[in-house]
Amino acid sequence: MSSPTTGYTLHRNYTSSARLNAQHLLWKEALGYNLHPCIDLPRDQPVRVADIGTGTGIWMMDVKRDYPAARIDGFDVSFAQCPPAEWLPDGVNLRPLDLYEPLPAELEGVYDVVHLRLFFVVIRNDDPVPVFRNLLRMLKPGGWLQWSEHNYESWSVQSVAGVSTPALDEMMALMKATGLGRWVPGLSNVFAQHGMAEVRKELHPCIPHTRVYWSQLQFNSNEEYSYLAMDNSSPDAAGPKLRSLIHQAAEECRRGAGFDFTIEVTLGRKPPA
Ligand SMILES: C[S@@+](CC[C@H](N)C(=O)[O-])C[C@H]1O[C@@H](n2cnc3c(N)ncnc32)[C@H](O)[C@@H]1O
Repeated sequence: MSSPTTGYTLHRNYTSSARLNAQHLLWKEALGYNLHPCIDLPRDQPVRVADIGTGTGIWMMDVKRDYPAARIDGFDVSFAQCPPAEWLPDGVNLRPLDLYEPLPAELEGVYDVVHLRLFFVVIRNDDPVPVFRNLLRMLKPGGWLQWSEHNYESWSVQSVAGVSTPALDEMMALMKATGLGRWVPGLSNVFAQHGMAEVRKELHPCIPHTRVYWSQLQFNSNEEYSYLAMDNSSPDAAGPKLRSLIHQAAEECRRGAGFDFTIEVTLGRKPPA
């Protein structure tokens, strides 16, 4: 598995949308919140929230339940996975934005909260700074940035007694070898170096029973990646080989094994003007 430097390497079809929606539930179970409790937003005010790379929009719909008066904008380069605008809750909007392009002036200093989740296949050249700078510009002074990702440093394979895991181990090694997400553990330093206040990094360990669920989602995304970002030119090429490995890993998972994923949440506040 090599690491691409540009281009989105996951599908936007119905299975990948279902994967994102299921992942939202696991993510929330691991964190215990949508917005970190230190972000003290009034629930009865039209606070402005931006969800960057909103995908299916599922995080926004959940936040809207918690903050009924909030105005929430979901930004993405594609809305192929979102419900039609006509069916969105009042106060939830979709807005096209490419985080790698200069930020439109009307988005500067608008948001009380900017949220971003799962950008590890989006960040180019191992460098989150170009994206981070745009996020910072979108915040009001005193506004919060919440950015959560998988923490690859602490990924492992776990199994119950007697179950061996050669395929899961090999997949884990391949995933780590891509280098995708290598920048995640340094994100809190990026926040601090750019003058953010109240920076904190929190690690949320994998809840044991969810290892199987996370693994099933990971099999899906690795399968998508194998078609979109790997060599599929012959039956022996990297893409078909990974898909065969996924089938063996899924069998190990059924016998009592799985990936153990830690989630890392980085938080920081734009200094007051
Ligand atoms: C892995 S999905 C995560 C979706 C969502 N944040 C979630 O957690 O369910 C990454 C999202 O980033 C979007 N994306 C990719 N490149 C982008 C860019 N340059 N600017 C903004 N969004 C982008 C993709 O279209 C996709 O919806």
